[in-house]
Amino acid sequence: MLLLGIESSCDETGVALVESHGNALPVLRSHALHSQISMHQAYGGVVPELASRDHIRRVLPLTESVMAEAGRSLGEIDVVAYTRGPGLAGALLVGAGVACALGVALGKPVLGVHHLEGHLLSPFLSADPPEFPFVALLVSGGHTQLMRVDGVGRYELLGETIDDAAGEAFDKSAKLMGLPYPGGPWLAKLAEDGNPAAFKLPRPLLHSGDLDFSFAGLKTAVLTQAKKLGDQLEANKADLAASTQAAIVEVLLKKSLAALDQTGLKRLVVAGGVGANKNLREQLNAACARRKVRVHYPELHLCTDNGAMIAMAAAMRLQSGLSQATERYAFDVRPRWPMASLTAEASLPQAA
Ligand code: KG4
Ligand code: ZN
Repeated sequence: MLLLGIESSCDETGVALVESHGNALPVLRSHALHSQISMHQAYGGVVPELASRDHIRRVLPLTESVMAEAGRSLGEIDVVAYTRGPGLAGALLVGAGVACALGVALGKPVLGVHHLEGHLLSPFLSADPPEFPFVALLVSGGHTQLMRVDGVGRYELLGETIDDAAGEAFDKSAKLMGLPYPGGPWLAKLAEDGNPAAFKLPRPLLHSGDLDFSFAGLKTAVLTQAKKLGDQLEANKADLAASTQAAIVEVLLKKSLAALDQTGLKRLVVAGGVGANKNLREQLNAACARRKVRVHYPELHLCTDNGAMIAMAAAMRLQSGLSQATERYAFDVRPRWPMASLTAEASLPQAA
């Protein structure tokens, strides 16, 4: 079965082809991505209307390029998968509209996929795929969650952020330091030349005894520190970046270890854009090696948004029998879509 995946929830247009046979792990055949980052950089963040318009421009050329790269024709596609939510409504509508139009034109069914489920299952595309069950640390620009994952669609939320996401903490702190959007990778780069112990920043909820996160206070502490530095900020920027990263990474690390303790599981999966952070990976790898816990990540280029994870999540949901692709082409996107509801919906056919 050949699945086309279309991702358009935010500022990357991603298209990919995944092939699945029986119960074997689906395989990525080709993928293409266009990042809008340089377009939004001038505004310091994503401009939703510009994002939608750019998705419109990119999605069909990207589709042509993945078909050509895989040496397949549109007629060979069996299912068209798209990101149904969560994300920017207008941006989601572009992917959903194109997916449904392709489905109608090709006479093939479509399947709307949860963006976070895409991130969660993206490590199954790596050379070292995980096995169920595992603890998942999902760290993206909009979400920070710890989950117990027993199988496709079998997700138990263990903890989540009560305010900002880890990616937001990176991005907002980076903005305060005058770094370009999205700040996470820039702050991480700058931190390489800084001293992580230079500034004492809070580790919110580190000792709360639960698995929830809070990052809003950290951003305020970074702002206060930046103001205190005044015209010395420029000279101390690398130290402030390193101290900020250290605070975020320590909280993510300790809470992930606590989730492993609580569940007794010996496998951790890290997914979402912040999962690309080198320092986080080094610390998790070291701590997990000491505890004989296996850590799995998506390939670095599949950590941030992409079409491959959407096609993969669709393929795995179809394999597990949890979802059915539909020929009802009512593309009802869900800009807000709690992942917890996926488990409840798991037994229902999608978009029924
Ligand atoms: O998963 P993603 O691509 O989009 C969402 O679904 O939100 O995650 C984007 C987030 C941004 O906040 C970005 O700054 C962050 O991931 N990010 C990083 C790194 N690469 C991306 N944060 C820290 N270090 C990185 N290397
Ligand atoms: Zn994402």
